Amino acid sequence: MQQQAQIGITGLAVMGRNLARNLARHGHAVAVHNRSSARTKDLVEQFGHEGTFVPAERAEEFVASLERPRRLVIMVKAGAPTDAVIDEFAPLLEPGDMIVDGGNAHFLDTRRREATLRERGLHFVGTGVSGGEEGALNGPSIMPGGSRESYDALGPLLEDISAKVDGAPCCAHVGPDGAGHFVKMVHNGIEYADMQLIAEAYDLLRRVGGLSPAEIAEVFRGWNGGRLSSYLIEITTEVLAHVDAATGKPFVDVVLDQAEQKGTGRWTVQTALDLGVPVSGIAEAVFARSLSGHADVRAAARALPGPTAAAGDAGTLVEDVEQALYASKIVAYAQGFHQIAAASAEYAWNVNLGAMASIWRGGCIIRAGFLDRIRAAYDATPDLPTLLTDDSFAAALGGAQDAWRRVVARSAQVGVPAPGFAAALSYYDGLRADRSPAALIQGQRDFFGAHTYRRVDRDGSFHTLWGADRGEQPA
Ligand code: 6PG
Repeated sequence: MQQQAQIGITGLAVMGRNLARNLARHGHAVAVHNRSSARTKDLVEQFGHEGTFVPAERAEEFVASLERPRRLVIMVKAGAPTDAVIDEFAPLLEPGDMIVDGGNAHFLDTRRREATLRERGLHFVGTGVSGGEEGALNGPSIMPGGSRESYDALGPLLEDISAKVDGAPCCAHVGPDGAGHFVKMVHNGIEYADMQLIAEAYDLLRRVGGLSPAEIAEVFRGWNGGRLSSYLIEITTEVLAHVDAATGKPFVDVVLDQAEQKGTGRWTVQTALDLGVPVSGIAEAVFARSLSGHADVRAAARALPGPTAAAGDAGTLVEDVEQALYASKIVAYAQGFHQIAAASAEYAWNVNLGAMASIWRGGCIIRAGFLDRIRAAYDATPDLPTLLTDDSFAAALGGAQDAWRRVVARSAQVGVPAPGFAAALSYYDGLRADRSPAALIQGQRDFFGAHTYRRVDRDGSFHTLWGADRGEQPA
């Protein structure tokens, strides 16, 4: 009788290989398969000592080595490659078996695949896996969607290999069908916003504060010991302290200043537009990456007139930027959680926001100390309309706003772009405003398009006869 494996992984590039190693190290027998069998052989030769691997060259052999219900994990590129692997394996599986997609698939693809495979009695589990190669090996944050039944069979294995914080696994059932991939997508959107805010803080400290990359690295190191403690702040100190061996210059000065993106941040914004949820911090981060890539336009615009105001002395810039960074970060997370809540309502996923904050505390790219406070906020008030109105975050924003406003104003005066800080502040002030200028927009829309408007003092919709006596009539 061939050795049976509890779980199988097909697609042994670095992420798939490291997940397989993580499972083997935790004592689970792992079936391993790859389109080119050389990778399978290499894995077993290099890491066979770490645990029980059950190698397979052919798809049929791979499936036969899995105990029932079969748990088959796909770790290949999102899109067509994932569909191709599903088409290869689905016919070999039996009702009750499950296919797990650990790639960064679009949640709508996952919903489609889940519905199709459900008709064949198979479970399809779109799973966010965050933490890169290191996380996959030593403990990622794992965000599985799919049916409750599939999580009952998968959850213990995934929780076993996930990161742990205070003994709790950074893995929980997110919700049905595409919920897991949706939450991973928003995780990546928040990641973009977080990275953009850190980049803006660096830019201001460098260009307005006159600090060197090495000095800014030390500023970030200090911040990492406080309320801003996070993986992204931690790696920022390393990147800014790094000196390029070839030139002896600060590494950050020899890197081409054009940011790339695989697309999950873009998806977050596109999806938010469809849901009608303002994720301005994430949107500004995506657009800032796009702007950086338009080298030709930037070169043409370089001669445009700049501010006349001198940068002036740094004064309390460092302290102010810390405040602006923390406040803007809270806004970015608040917007991301708002988007998850909106999608959860739209798709009837019933996502537990506190649980999402909890599984993001470790393993993932946005892991940060303050996620404990976000979890506490949603555990205390699960239907919080926005994270900003949680008492502790409202107090933090209140305490930060004077400095936050100084930073946004200073950046504008000296011509150092800070779209993330500025968008976050405008979002905060937009939510606080008693009256929005949207009233004027409604008037304009009614004037040129007879699109009607509602009134503050009466129910119903109305239209003004702008081209006649300007009388008002019910719409
Ligand atoms: C993670 C990361 C990962 C992401 C890469 C590149 O959670 O481990 O978010 O999923 O794809 O970091 O992302 P971009 O190329 O879009 O920056």
